[in-house]
Amino acid sequence: MNVYIKEIPPTFIDESIAPRDSHIHRFHLMKGEVKIGKIVVVDEKQSMYIQEVDVVKNQRRKGYGTMIMEFAIEKYGKRKMSLISASSDSKFSESKLKKFYNKFGFKSRKDDQDFMERKADPYSKA
Ligand SMILES: CC(C)(COP(=O)(O)OP(=O)(O)OC[C@H]1O[C@@H](n2cnc3c(N)ncnc32)[C@H](O)[C@@H]1OP(=O)(O)O)[C@@H](O)C(=O)NCCC(=O)NCCS
Repeated sequence: MNVYIKEIPPTFIDESIAPRDSHIHRFHLMKGEVKIGKIVVVDEKQSMYIQEVDVVKNQRRKGYGTMIMEFAIEKYGKRKMSLISASSDSKFSESKLKKFYNKFGFKSRKDDQDFMERKADPYSKA
């Protein structure tokens, strides 16, 4: 009998909380039935504010954080996007986290290095 390991591709589940909170969008990155990451995005009208990005500890450094950010940009990148960069992972320094966000077009504001913005991108797929 063949023995094999099947990796189920991660999928996103939209968990917009409730109609009256519809400006808050939460997505879980799923691997099969298991939640391995999440992103929370708040529609602030002027911009889409990324409130939370998180990958579970034992799944980090496998490209899932990148996948989550690319997903958010594909979905909301036509609008201005913003976030506050603050690492809760002691192995991931603040400056490395900023470089991570730089890769997706986020730049620190001059008056507040932790506040990062990405310009509205009319060519974004969304
Ligand atoms: C930030 C976070 C979402 C990144 O998720 P991830 O799945 O590890 O990210 P990726 O695997 O896509 O890594 C992308 C790149 O980020 C950088 N990176 C990620 N973790 C790193 C670490 N511990 N140290 C240094 N660089 C790191 C690397 O450049 C990496 O690319 P590489 O692996 O090819 O070198 C994850 O570290 C996390 O959940 N952290 C805790 C929550 C947090 O602090 N969120 C940010 C709130 S603003």
